[in-house]
Amino acid sequence: MEDQLATQALRESEELHRVTLLNMSDAVFITDDHGIFTFICPNADLIFGYGPDEIRTMERISHLLGRELVDRELLATSGEIRNIEHEITTKHGAHRALLVHIKKVSIKRGTTLYTCRDVSERKDAERTLRRNEERLTLALEAASMGTWDWDIPTGRMTWSPQTHRLLGDANGSHAPSFASFLGRVDAADRERVSRTMAQAMEGAASYETEFRVHGYDDSERWVLGKGKALKNGKPLRMIGVFVDLTARHHIERELQELSGRLIHAHEEERIRLSRELHDDLAQRVALHAAELTLLRGRLKDASPDVHEQIAALSKQTAGIGAALHRLSHELHPARLSALGLDASIRSLCRNVTEAHKLAIDVAISGNSTAVDSDAALCIYRITQEALQNVVKHSGASRATVTLSIQDSNIRLTVGDDGAGFNQDAVKGKDTLGLVSMRERARLVRGQIEVTSSPGHGTRVDVRVPLSMPEASHLTNSPEDKSV
Ligand SMILES: Nc1ncnc2c1ncn2[C@@H]1O[C@H](COP(=O)(O)OP(=O)(O)OP(=O)(O)O)[C@@H](O)[C@H]1O
Ligand SMILES: [Mg+2]
Repeated sequence: MEDQLATQALRESEELHRVTLLNMSDAVFITDDHGIFTFICPNADLIFGYGPDEIRTMERISHLLGRELVDRELLATSGEIRNIEHEITTKHGAHRALLVHIKKVSIKRGTTLYTCRDVSERKDAERTLRRNEERLTLALEAASMGTWDWDIPTGRMTWSPQTHRLLGDANGSHAPSFASFLGRVDAADRERVSRTMAQAMEGAASYETEFRVHGYDDSERWVLGKGKALKNGKPLRMIGVFVDLTARHHIERELQELSGRLIHAHEEERIRLSRELHDDLAQRVALHAAELTLLRGRLKDASPDVHEQIAALSKQTAGIGAALHRLSHELHPARLSALGLDASIRSLCRNVTEAHKLAIDVAISGNSTAVDSDAALCIYRITQEALQNVVKHSGASRATVTLSIQDSNIRLTVGDDGAGFNQDAVKGKDTLGLVSMRERARLVRGQIEVTSSPGHGTRVDVRVPLSMPEASHLTNSPEDKSV
């Protein structure tokens, strides 16, 4: 009875093994010490394409696998050899990547157990992943982008080769770390970069910021840093890219210098024209007026209509003289330094009101003597252009000019409640007014904002620092300083 039970248990166990082997995707073989098969699993054809009978006729496992895989000495000492990567060709000519484990056993008259797993799909996926990574690296490098990855709990950071290069470490000899990255950031930008990244980390958010780096090789670069923080309760990881903006910055700087020079040349040309008008034409007109007065004195006996004609000519001449004078002052606001910004703006507004019948509410507060000459010229020219625009485009009969000189800033607002305009629609327009207002503000480190929409009027807001840390190019010749 006990024998029967034991035989039954054995049969069941064998059946279980058979079913398990059949349902496994791995192929299992047992061989003797010479590699001759003593067991071939029934499902070997799944991987090899050959059925058990065909495999048996091959006699040795080296014939099936294409070569001897086992290092007998190693197997004898360690009892097991795992993860041998091996490629085979199936009965149907397909290539398969296998992972083979070999183990010393003593079953079915055999001594060596081979388990072969098909890892072709995984290998293909790995290959595709690697190819994609290579493409991504190529694209990032083409865009001058480096990547980095920061594991917060361990503090470990990795930099892509391009990141090493951006930080002036072409050989990759410096160990990546957040501290070594921050050490390369320009001292003036360091605190801001560190704070921006810390805030992103706190909020598990993205960030974007520009800064300068001083590379290990003493190079100086402009970099855009973009990154994203990942959190799982605690800060976990931060990943990001660095984009090399150096070339763009050089071009931008050159363009800015060029527009600064153009505005400077423009100012000089206005000064020259203003002098021509004032010193030559206006003087000649004044002489003309004086001669007309003399002539009138000499023609005492002439008829009244001759006198009337001469009086009319004198009046016209005086009018031309006044217009020339005004124009000359508009071109070169000589009173700006003599009278100060306050009086010059009031005079400008008065002239516009007289010439164009535009009522202007002027409100000026603060001490304009503290205003630096570049800042004053900038505010004066912007007011001039903004008022010209009100006259030319708004159709408004009233405008406001508000100037407030504060401790460190000058604030100017020129507003009208006229036609307004769509700012997107004028972007491509070939006009200079708005562009030069912006450029003038930028040259004195100021900010300008134009708010307008059709039917709702226009407002130009400007904020300019009271004085510049270093001299600008607008009024830098001794003569120009008198503007
Ligand atoms: N106050 C305003 N009211 C209505 N439209 C305006 C006003 N200011 C500007 N615009 C619109 O914006 C456009 C651009 O202004 P901008 O000063 O650059 O050029 P412009 O005055 O036409 O020519 P330019 O100033 O070069 O002589 C104008 O053509 C006009 O359509
Ligand atoms: Mg204009």
